[in-house]
Amino acid sequence: MRLDKYLADMSLGTRSEVKELIRKGKITVNGKTVKDASLQIKESDSVACEGQEVSYVECEYYLLNKPKGYICALEDKRHPVIMELIRSRRKDLVPVGRLDLDTEGAILLTNDGQLNHFLLSPKNHVPKTYYAETDKPIPEEAPELFEKGLDLGDFTSAPARLKILGENKAELTIHEGKFHQVKRMFEKVGCTVTCLRRLRFGELTLDGLQTGEFRSLTEEEIKTLKKDQPSD
Ligand code: URA
Repeated sequence: MRLDKYLADMSLGTRSEVKELIRKGKITVNGKTVKDASLQIKESDSVACEGQEVSYVECEYYLLNKPKGYICALEDKRHPVIMELIRSRRKDLVPVGRLDLDTEGAILLTNDGQLNHFLLSPKNHVPKTYYAETDKPIPEEAPELFEKGLDLGDFTSAPARLKILGENKAELTIHEGKFHQVKRMFEKVGCTVTCLRRLRFGELTLDGLQTGEFRSLTEEEIKTLKKDQPSD
């Protein structure tokens, strides 16, 4: 990888800012000052900026508490996108799945394509828990219907756990993630979702994250997410 990309990936600045650092002689590779931004860096090389080692982190993993009004996309003409909330210069970060524009809560972002693919695979039933509010009282029999599976036209939902919290409030745990799935499940029992928040993605919760805030995952959390991922 080119030296300027290496430094930009590691958040030392934009491509032009890191070129300036290189030009000013602030960057060393294996202890020697380098002035060539296109220098190819190998895994065994040691890169430093003003004497501070800059080690390369291949993959980044973030948990964001998405606010309403943001789109889970890389760019959009009409709405702000969640990428604007993550202070990382990695251009290859993508969300793991999607939350609707008016849904808030836990969403994972990573540039680890393999893990992303694995987590979204229908074979891998990562539990996702949502808090939902509805326009009408949730029918008493809804937990049983959700547990049995609902015919939603193009598919039948897998058994899901519905915990009714109040007349119009419930927590729902599903193990799949089809388009508008939660809203469609509630519609099927006669209710329109008026507020939807994802509280949990696998083991990851919103604890300590205000709306709009994000954090890096810990090593332990990354390990847990990858635990059943086939190694190649
Ligand atoms: N189900 C929905 O209907 N919307 C979401 O944003 C997520 C799950």
